[in-house]
Amino acid sequence: MASPRGRRVVLGITGGIAAYKAPELVRQLRAAGAEVRAVLSQSAARFVAVGALTAVGAEVVDDEEMGMLHIDLARWADIVLIAPATAHLLARLAIGAADDLLTTLCLATEAPICLAPAMNRVMWEHPATRANHTQLLERGVLFVGPDEGPQACGENGPGRMSQPAEIAAFLEHLWGEEGRLRGVRAVVTAGPTYEALDPARGLTNRSSGKMGYAVAAALAEQGAQVLLVSGPTGLTAPPGVRRVLVTSAIEMREVVLAHRDGMRLFVGAAAVADYRPETVSAQKLKKQAGTLTITFVRNPDIVAEVASWTPRPFTVGFAAETEELERHARTKLEKKGLDLVIANPIGEPGAGFGEDHNRVTLIDKDRTVAWTAAPKTEIARQIVMEIIKRLPRDTHA
Ligand code: PMT
Repeated sequence: MASPRGRRVVLGITGGIAAYKAPELVRQLRAAGAEVRAVLSQSAARFVAVGALTAVGAEVVDDEEMGMLHIDLARWADIVLIAPATAHLLARLAIGAADDLLTTLCLATEAPICLAPAMNRVMWEHPATRANHTQLLERGVLFVGPDEGPQACGENGPGRMSQPAEIAAFLEHLWGEEGRLRGVRAVVTAGPTYEALDPARGLTNRSSGKMGYAVAAALAEQGAQVLLVSGPTGLTAPPGVRRVLVTSAIEMREVVLAHRDGMRLFVGAAAVADYRPETVSAQKLKKQAGTLTITFVRNPDIVAEVASWTPRPFTVGFAAETEELERHARTKLEKKGLDLVIANPIGEPGAGFGEDHNRVTLIDKDRTVAWTAAPKTEIARQIVMEIIKRLPRDTHA
């Protein structure tokens, strides 16, 4: 397992009894080679002394000096780790509160956020905390713990903060040898788009999002900073992946465009509708005698547009085909100017839309390689390995 050597950790400490463990956590992170800047909430100061943190090598950042500090820290961080994270902190992050340095930098950072919750077991199990926890997981916030056991309040159950060694080990795992895409900003599109015709009806397709979500998860496993732009699916965001939900192709394009700066890798796994109704009726369309003719207009081709940028990210597309898989997919590689195409058959069992497995063929300008069928999660990891091999050197960590 690789060490967190040289990693920059913003350690947020909130006001719970478990804050007494923060100096030991700093000591372990520093011993592993990480740089640590600590930010204390107002109430944390009642549980841990600034001197104890600086003595073990943390730089303690003062809430009072705020100014542009939240932006500086947000950019500096490789991770924002909050330990302990109280129920109140979870609630504030869930609603996007920005009323002190710690919550403000959490809103401003693009680095992963990892929480080590600590609270009384009834508070942890309260429906409000459950809802906040779920919402934060949905947004790709990482959680380590809480552990179960005797609590400072005399109760027994879930809510104890994980031990510093366990939290440090979690970060080591996160930044393990697998982290070959550390620092690479990646955008992945996934799922279907829905093109409204009227308030009740629209045009969509059978994409479940499983393939694209698996690619996003596999990229995050390799340390990439992943933004997942997802059409409507029933899936939850993979750990460590920031997700933006969209409905139509136009919305998907807008979100992708808004994240152009610094994008080093783009993977278009979404099944984007090529057409949308020319007009969207504000009222539900009424039945009428005879046939109904709807005019469809072309949607923007997102992956082709991304591939045309200068500079451009390494651009990967998918191709969903019912026939002549290789020929059609190669045409897409060339016409859309892509670096790599992952072609998959649709309309056959065990591959394509909705399935947990897939059978893909990898196509680049020189080669066509057909892989055997495997779970989408495994295929996604293999795709990421192929991306790593091809990614221009300066886009690696
Ligand atoms: O979501 P699952 O149920 O897991 O199923 C996976 C999948 C079959 C949806 C996926 O693996 C897949 O093949 N995704 C691409 C489907 C598709 O729209 O293929 P296409 O051949 O129509 O498009 C080719 C490429 O252009 C794709 O990268 C697509 O994202 C992109 N595209 C297409 C149209 C458009 N307007 N904008 C685009 O960016």
